[in-house]
Amino acid sequence: MPDENFFEIAYSVDSTDETRAMYDRWAKVYDRDLTDGEYQQPARCAEALKTQIGDLGSNILDVGCGTGLSGLALQNAGYTNIDGCDLSEGMLEKAASLEIYGRLFACDLNQPPLDVEDQSYDAITAVGIFSFGHVMPEAVDEFLRIIKPGGAIIIGLNDHFYEEGSLTAKLEELECAGKLKIVSREHGEHIPQNDLKGWVLSIFVPSQ
Ligand SMILES: C[S@@+](CC[C@H](N)C(=O)[O-])C[C@H]1O[C@@H](n2cnc3c(N)ncnc32)[C@H](O)[C@@H]1O
Repeated sequence: MPDENFFEIAYSVDSTDETRAMYDRWAKVYDRDLTDGEYQQPARCAEALKTQIGDLGSNILDVGCGTGLSGLALQNAGYTNIDGCDLSEGMLEKAASLEIYGRLFACDLNQPPLDVEDQSYDAITAVGIFSFGHVMPEAVDEFLRIIKPGGAIIIGLNDHFYEEGSLTAKLEELECAGKLKIVSREHGEHIPQNDLKGWVLSIFVPSQ
């Protein structure tokens, strides 16, 4: 049987169950597909985090960690204290095998609260999770509950969902309310072999 084209299927999922089932199947070949595509967002997001959080021992939650490519980029950038969570058990099993995450747990970011105390993390990375049928912009409210004042949120997403506009609208609403500050928006490569570009959004969370 020919391989499924998960890059295409990822745009057609429209329920949490479909998304979870797709990633449970994709888990087996996700790293191969993304490596072949020369996936750039994990490294770009890790570098963006470094410009805000220099302490390499800071505790980071990699939300929607998948198989761990985004955590691996954090580790390659020198960070040593990384937790992860994801919807798909198949993806989480792969992430666990890397042995780079401390706590690793299942979650649905569209159904808060997460099993995490208030103000627990210095930083949150969200790489490739905001998309059609994936994680919705309202999840940022939960990020703000679990991050420490002075913390950083780094979001990497592709052009298609950035241009859809709901995430940037949510972030701008929260910025107007004084709950966060968008420090930078960098456009660049997402998956170059698929001719897909994307954005890295760096966000500072002030004390309230
Ligand atoms: C494109 S992958 C990105 C994985 C990893 N961050 C990376 O950069 O390789 C998207 C991930 O988001 C997860 N995801 C999708 N919807 C989710 C939800 N509602 N809650 C938590 N994770 C979700 C998927 O299971 C998948 O692992």
